Amino acid sequence: MARIAVVGSINMDLVVETDIMPKKGETVLGNHFFTAPGGKGANQAVAAARLGGNVTMFGSVGIDQNGENLRAILKEEGVETAFINIVEGIATGVAIIEICEHDNRIIVASGANQYTNLEYLTNVSKELLNYDVILLQHEIPLESIEYIANFLSIYNKTIILNPAPAFALSDEILKCITYITPNEHEYKMVLNTSDPMDEVLKRYPNKLLITRGEEGVTYCDGTNIITVPSINVEIVDTTGAGDTFTGAFGVAISEGQDLLKAIHFANCAAGLSITKMGAQKGMPRLDEVLKIR
Ligand code: RIB
Ligand code: NA
Repeated sequence: MARIAVVGSINMDLVVETDIMPKKGETVLGNHFFTAPGGKGANQAVAAARLGGNVTMFGSVGIDQNGENLRAILKEEGVETAFINIVEGIATGVAIIEICEHDNRIIVASGANQYTNLEYLTNVSKELLNYDVILLQHEIPLESIEYIANFLSIYNKTIILNPAPAFALSDEILKCITYITPNEHEYKMVLNTSDPMDEVLKRYPNKLLITRGEEGVTYCDGTNIITVPSINVEIVDTTGAGDTFTGAFGVAISEGQDLLKAIHFANCAAGLSITKMGAQKGMPRLDEVLKIR
């Protein structure tokens, strides 16, 4: 069975549901509050593990209750946690999430995630060679993403990057990435372009997958622009939908599914994930996806 490594962030999400988003300088009374495991890296890992992926998490937490809980949760989900970096003197990453009318705003305090740095990665570099598919996001330092992409592309690993939160990437990094999954807002910043979407897609055939929420996922197969529709669901909370998409896509690709089928599979998983509150809560298991596929 193909092995999947996720290199990325691990956060505790502090979530408030509110009917009114506060304006600058304003205080509002929100509704329900809860904490939940998150971080785009850990979310991908959980999504992939629930769908039957053989997943190992690489990332960093602090020596605190959040870090301990988050490692325990990953383990319960069947994710290998033995290589997680436990850093002294810094807090585990936290995300402040406001949810208003199914839309969210997120602020991440990276904390220990900053220590998923070159020192840590060189320590685990040999271990990383044991994996076939590598999942990345943008909540670790850019130089770490560069390092992983450069180092592992030499070994012909499949590297899948969800470039969120968005920042521009160099052509050198993009060349090393096998699949990149920005949403329709992110791709412009990540690819440093304001050209029409179809033109941009044609520049990165079978590589750039733009996730467009209810519209589906659009890519270029080398000749045509193809949109794989998303599934119709009742939206409760879209937090983590992109992470679910990338995690599920990673599993499908690791199983050797072709691109179109892999995107459809990932669309189904992401669609199901938004029917529940919390990033990881709604992430489906394999049988749930197979039922609706
Ligand atoms: O993509 C959703 C995630 O973004 C949340 O879980 C939060 O931790 C932030 O990293
Ligand atoms: Na959800």
